[in-house]
Amino acid sequence: MTNLSVNLNKVALLRNSRNFGIPSVIKAASTCMRAGAHGITVHPRPDERHIKHEDVYELAKILTVEFNVEGNPSPQFLELIREIKPTQCTLVPDAPDAFTSDHGWDLVTNDSWLRQIIPELKELGIRVSLFLDPDLIQIELAKEIGADRIELYTEPYATAYRHGDVESVFQQYQQAAKKAQEIGLGVNAGHDLNLQNLGKFCSIPNILELSIGHALITDALEMGLFTAVKKYLSILSPN
Ligand code: PXP
Repeated sequence: MTNLSVNLNKVALLRNSRNFGIPSVIKAASTCMRAGAHGITVHPRPDERHIKHEDVYELAKILTVEFNVEGNPSPQFLELIREIKPTQCTLVPDAPDAFTSDHGWDLVTNDSWLRQIIPELKELGIRVSLFLDPDLIQIELAKEIGADRIELYTEPYATAYRHGDVESVFQQYQQAAKKAQEIGLGVNAGHDLNLQNLGKFCSIPNILELSIGHALITDALEMGLFTAVKKYLSILSPN
């Protein structure tokens, strides 16, 4: 079964454009849970332009589903993770001023740094996932340095899908997922997945979790958050 973890960054972005707390990230999380989402994802960035650290603490108090906190493992981020102890921590190599996450880790250059962080987080009972491009060498390194899972960065898949020329890119994701599963890594994926491109991506066997934010929240503006979550869930588990 593929789990849906709804990324609430965009709810927080809208909330931050006024200073009286609407839309509420907590209320959005509750609606997602009521609609059957298996998880909630947030990506607190150093400038707190969408999710604030305070949101992460508040969400941790109310969530009854998996909590996935993503980010670049700066000292400040790691402090938050140690306190919250989310179900999963997805480590992402984004620069502090990155517009959005736009590439996976280079585990050749970041090897020793992550080798220290990953065991510490696992010791705290946190599942550790590394954000990766569909690159077989990086996947082998992710296993070697102790990750539990990888999250495949799907923007190139989504772009190829939009341009109507997706087959060769899709095959890279199929091969990457297969390789990861063969060596004992769980496979998550996310970025720019939407109601159009999701079905094909879900034909890759045994994807454990998809984290989806931008498109789902956009759809929610038209159909409501509860219905949007239901629609995405119906593609993930068609039967
Ligand atoms: N995964 C990571 C690491 C991300 O940074 C994001 C965006 O915050 C997503 C998944 C979700 O991407 P989208 O908002 O395009 O669905």
